[in-house]
Amino acid sequence: MRNPERLEAYLHSLEPDPSPLLCELERYAREHRIPIVRRETAAFLKTLVALKAPREILEIGTAIGYSALRMCQALGADGHLTTIEKWEKRIPQARENFRRAGELHRITLLEGDAAQVLRTLAGPYDFIFLDAAKGQYLALLPELERLTAPGGVLVTDNIFQEGTVLESRYAVRRRDRTIHARLREYLYQLKHRPQWETALVPVGDGVAVSVRKTGTSEGQP
Ligand SMILES: C[S@@+](CC[C@H](N)C(=O)[O-])C[C@H]1O[C@@H](n2cnc3c(N)ncnc32)[C@H](O)[C@@H]1O
Repeated sequence: MRNPERLEAYLHSLEPDPSPLLCELERYAREHRIPIVRRETAAFLKTLVALKAPREILEIGTAIGYSALRMCQALGADGHLTTIEKWEKRIPQARENFRRAGELHRITLLEGDAAQVLRTLAGPYDFIFLDAAKGQYLALLPELERLTAPGGVLVTDNIFQEGTVLESRYAVRRRDRTIHARLREYLYQLKHRPQWETALVPVGDGVAVSVRKTGTSEGQP
């Protein structure tokens, strides 16, 4: 693509405004520098949810509930979404936003660190959206693999880390090298483990779409 900035601006301009509540959440997130999914990523997520028609969605990284509410827009009437958040400040905000959206009945908000919470879940989930601390993705992968139903989809956001993941280790600031190495290893595992069929998609800050293949054995990444 000759001009990626123009493409991004054009794609963004095509996105219709969501509901007044979601617009308010976008403004709040902007003003308080809360990193929620971009509109293009939300549209991509909603399309994947519409395509997959999951009964059970699991989200890791709720923040104020924006992406959860976006996915609910494409979720069928009998669908349910579980979302995990560890930051105490965000939990009541997300719950209040779910209430305002009239979605409390089909969203379960689990409080705590995903590294612990995931172990308590039985699953399986047919759709998982991973949008938490990027440095933890690799460590979470075995639990995510266990929790994704055969044929289920794992969507991982921000895989390009504002472009730094494309750079060599030495071009990255020293303090970012661990997260850089872990994210690269995470993507390598998703592309090379036989359990997953993965496409890396340059939408927003990069999204990995991985399908849990059927008939492949379990195991530690
Ligand atoms: C990028 S924000 C999520 C944005 C949200 N998905 C959206 O687009 O509306 C990441 C959130 O994940 C939470 N988080 C990070 N690591 C986590 C972990 N290990 N367990 C649970 N939540 C975590 C952070 O507190 C933060 O609120």
